[in-house]
Amino acid sequence: MANSAAGGAGDYARTKRGQSGEQTVSGLHCRAAPTPRSAAMTSARTATAAAAPTSVRPRREGTMTDHKTGTREESLAARLNLAGQRVVVVGGTSGMGAATVRAARELGADVVSAGRRSVSERKPADGVREVVVDTTDEDSVRALFESVGELDHLLVTASPGQSGRLLDQDLAQARSFMDGKFFGSWTCARYAAPRLRSRGSITFVTGGSVVRPRVGASMITAAFAAVEGLTHALAVELGPLRVNAIRPSYTDTEFWSFLSDLEREDFRRRVAQTAPVRRAGAPQDVAQGAIFLMTNPQVTGTILEITGGDTLVNNVD
Ligand SMILES: NC(=O)c1ccc[n+]([C@@H]2O[C@H](COP(=O)([O-])OP(=O)(O)OC[C@H]3O[C@@H](n4cnc5c(N)ncnc54)[C@H](OP(=O)(O)O)[C@@H]3O)[C@@H](O)[C@H]2O)c1
Repeated sequence: MANSAAGGAGDYARTKRGQSGEQTVSGLHCRAAPTPRSAAMTSARTATAAAAPTSVRPRREGTMTDHKTGTREESLAARLNLAGQRVVVVGGTSGMGAATVRAARELGADVVSAGRRSVSERKPADGVREVVVDTTDEDSVRALFESVGELDHLLVTASPGQSGRLLDQDLAQARSFMDGKFFGSWTCARYAAPRLRSRGSITFVTGGSVVRPRVGASMITAAFAAVEGLTHALAVELGPLRVNAIRPSYTDTEFWSFLSDLEREDFRRRVAQTAPVRRAGAPQDVAQGAIFLMTNPQVTGTILEITGGDTLVNNVD
C-alpha cells in the first residue's frame, strides 16, 4: 500500500430512526464506535431516541428544531458540509472520480483517492490521501479498506475502459470486463460496508448504454446493468446504509483518451449537436451528483441519470 491509515474520525451528526420510522437528527457530536461489523447497524441497534425539544432554537450549527413537530432539521448548507466525514473514491485518480475527490475536499471531507497508478504519478492535493489499489485483486481492496478504517461515503468509478464487439472477443476478454467493472464494484462494497458509519453511503457508476445500448459495447452494457441490479439489492440488504448509482453519458475525461485529438474534438462536437442540453458532460456534473447522493439521507436504491438527455435521443455512434 502506498499509504497507511489516517487517525480517528472527526465528529459528525449521527442519524437514527425513532419507532415511528421518522428520521431525526440527534444533534449529538460523537466519535464513531470502532466496531468490526457494520458501524451503522450497531449504531442503529444501540441508539436511543433523543428527547424532542419543544421550542425553536439552534442545536448546533446548521440545525434547527421545528416547534410544531418537535423534529430537528438540518439546513442545506449543514447537509453539504462534509467536515469530519471520510470519503473514499475508488477511481479517484482520473475523470469523474478525480472531480469528486476535489468536490468532497472543497466541502471539508477527509478524502482518500484510490486507483492503480503509482502515487508519484499523481498531483498531490492538500487533505487528500493517495492510495494504490487494484479492484480486480481482492487482497488489494481488503487492504485498502483495512488501512482506511471507518468511512462515511464510498464512490466507485473504476472500470476497465472500452470493451468491443461480441465477435471480436473470447470468453476470457468478456469475463475480464465483468471482473473489472461488476466484481470490482462488488468487492469495494464488500469490504467497505462493515466500516461505513451511520448515514453512510455507497455510490456506483454505470452508464447510459444500460438503457440505450451502443454497438460494440455489449459487455459494458451488461456489466453496467449488473451494477444497477446490485445497487437495488444492496440498498435493501444494507439499509440504513444507502446505496445508489450514477448513470452518466458522454463525459469529457481520460476515458476517451484512446481517440486521437481530432477524433475526440469531432466526438465532442457531435455530442453537443445531438444531446438535448447541447453540451458534452463535464466530470464536475457527475461529481455534483455524487455529492447529492452522499448527502441526501432519503435517497437509496436510486439510479441517477446525468446524461444531458442523451438517452432520450439518437446517440452519436
Ligand atoms: N466518460 C464517459 O463518457 C463515460 C460514459 C458512461 C459511463 N462511464 C463510466 O464512468 C466510470 C468513470 O469513468 P471516467 O470517465 O471517470 O473514467 P477515467 O477518467 O478513465 O477514470 C477511471 C478511473 O478508474 C480507475 N481504475 C480503472 N481500473 C481500475 C482498477 N482495476 N482498480 C482501481 N482503479 C481502477 C483509474 O485509475 P488508474 O488509472 O490510476 O488505474 C481511474 O481513476 C467508468 O465506469 C465508465 O465506464 C463513463
